[in-house]
Amino acid sequence: MGVGMKEMVLLKFHLHHFILVQLFLLATSAHELHGSILDRRQDPIEMDSHVSSMIPGIPPLGAPQPLLPLLAPSPLVPFTNTSIPKLSGFCPLNFTAAESLMSMTAIDCFESFAPLAANIICCPQLEATLSILIGQSSKQTDMLALNRTLSKYCLSDAKQILIAQGAIHSLTQMCSIHSLNLTEASCPVKDVNEFHDIVDTSKLLVACEKIDPIKECCNQMCQNAILEAATKIASKGSDLLSLDGPHVLPEHSTRINDCRTIVLRWLSGELDPFNAKKILRGISNCNVNKVCPLVLPDVWHVAKACGDGINNKTVCCDAMEVYVSHLQRQSFLTNLQALDCAETLAMKLQKSNITEDVYSLCHVSLKDFSLQVNHVDVSVNSQEAGCLLPSLPSDLTLDTTGISFSCDLNDNIPAPWPSTSQVATSACNKTVNIPALPAAANGQSCLQSDYMLFPLLLAFSLLLMTRG
Ligand SMILES: *[C@@H]1O[C@H](CO)[C@@H](O)[C@H](O)[C@H]1NC(C)=O
Ligand SMILES: *[C@@H]1O[C@H](CO)[C@@H](O)[C@H](O)[C@H]1NC(C)=O
Ligand SMILES: *[C@@H]1O[C@H](CO)[C@@H](O)[C@H](O)[C@H]1NC(C)=O
Ligand SMILES: *[C@@H]1O[C@H](CO)[C@@H](O)[C@H](O)[C@H]1NC(C)=O
Ligand SMILES: *[C@@H]1O[C@H](CO)[C@@H](O)[C@H](O)[C@H]1NC(C)=O
Ligand SMILES: *[C@@H]1O[C@H](CO)[C@@H](O)[C@H](O)[C@H]1NC(C)=O
Ligand SMILES: *[C@@H]1O[C@H](CO)[C@@H](O)[C@H](O)[C@H]1NC(C)=O
Repeated sequence: MGVGMKEMVLLKFHLHHFILVQLFLLATSAHELHGSILDRRQDPIEMDSHVSSMIPGIPPLGAPQPLLPLLAPSPLVPFTNTSIPKLSGFCPLNFTAAESLMSMTAIDCFESFAPLAANIICCPQLEATLSILIGQSSKQTDMLALNRTLSKYCLSDAKQILIAQGAIHSLTQMCSIHSLNLTEASCPVKDVNEFHDIVDTSKLLVACEKIDPIKECCNQMCQNAILEAATKIASKGSDLLSLDGPHVLPEHSTRINDCRTIVLRWLSGELDPFNAKKILRGISNCNVNKVCPLVLPDVWHVAKACGDGINNKTVCCDAMEVYVSHLQRQSFLTNLQALDCAETLAMKLQKSNITEDVYSLCHVSLKDFSLQVNHVDVSVNSQEAGCLLPSLPSDLTLDTTGISFSCDLNDNIPAPWPSTSQVATSACNKTVNIPALPAAANGQSCLQSDYMLFPLLLAFSLLLMTRG
């Protein structure tokens, strides 16, 4: 396998077993979040023996062609037999025109999977979808916002349609979307014509009609254009709100943020829904990758075991393992989020006077921060490994064999321990480096074949895709 090869594992979950496993997993993580860090139980994500026993032996290594589904597909009840949603009939948004977008969103927010990657896949997709629905409707109504009455009907209708196609019932709570989010909120401009009068729309469109999702997070060309437009319309009729300067009032930043939503809707109306989705997901993804979404508990236990110059490596690494294993019950991460998490944790540890690189001492890698899935390995029987999602926007897919998502294998890299003198790496530089193979993984293609030793068989089929 040449250097620079990109390899992804596409996990295909057989739907109804997936639900069983995931529900169990959810119960575990909820419990763990409230559990004590000292609780040493190692019982995550076990497959039930009924499922495991159906998994046959591992196919020969180095056979990268798709494996056939190992079991006959079962009927995908929630999807193929979508229930008929009860709609208000008062919402002017054209859900039919965005049908494929809606069904993609329903899959991205699929019942038992959604909470595991809510901030990476489901919620950004839902927000993009709502923006596109309103943006497209503005072509008829000239309005980039719904009024309060309509916003209630429309959010409810959108939710009903998505749930009828399999989306999680707590969709709006999970993504903190309220009907007011469909209005103009505090933004003083919602009329398309007024928008055109104030904003240099051609400039905005040029900056945003096509973005490179990797470069955009770094050079922020489109995002800056959006912010500029949002700031402009937010300042309408007010000279108190001068643009820059250190004294930006909180109301003003809320207003700019609300206007940002208006700008995104305008863009969504200018582009076709497919492109709009790509742009909006690309933009929101820059923010997704900037923060570690994990709750990092207190590190005192690790600090106790690893402080004072680490006099017992076993004790220290045991403590580290317990700590990390609690993080592993929370959520799937993108590889960049994992990097953020590694950095945040390292800083926390350093603040507790741990100066040595405990990541390298204890072989902590980036994938250790993500949710673990059970693999079946011929020699070891069962093995857990982290599954990191790609840092670029991704969607779940559905076919007759189940729900699929991609796990990036290029992330099999040691968690970097920031030196105390070094400033945290900027998200910009990370974004540039990671999707193009992190340097640490270059020339270590053996790591990739390691992965092939224990293909994921929580799934019932596995696809290895090799991309140049
Ligand atoms: C879908 O639901 C309808 C009514 O509940 C039922 O008659 C039909 O057999 C179902 N179809 C499938 C494929 O399950
Ligand atoms: C909604 O969009 C569809 C497809 O683009 C179109 O056929 C239909 O007339 C639209 N409905 C309304 C009410 O505009
Ligand atoms: C909201 O908009 C609809 C359609 O434009 C209109 O019929 C309705 O009166 C408006 N409601 C309010 C409270 O402004
Ligand atoms: C919806 O609006 C509330 C209140 O303005 C805000 O806190 C929340 O972040 C918004 N949700 C989204 C998804 O934008
Ligand atoms: C480290 O601690 C473990 C467990 O307390 C103990 O068994 C082991 O002997 C210790 N090792 C050293 C080098 O002190
Ligand atoms: C770290 O070490 C310094 C100096 O030895 C000490 O003052 C401080 O309390 C320690 N902090 C923690 C969190 O242990
Ligand atoms: C990114 O890295 C380059 C060189 O590695 C450095 O010159 C630049 O300042 C970095 N950018 C940021 C925003 O930190």
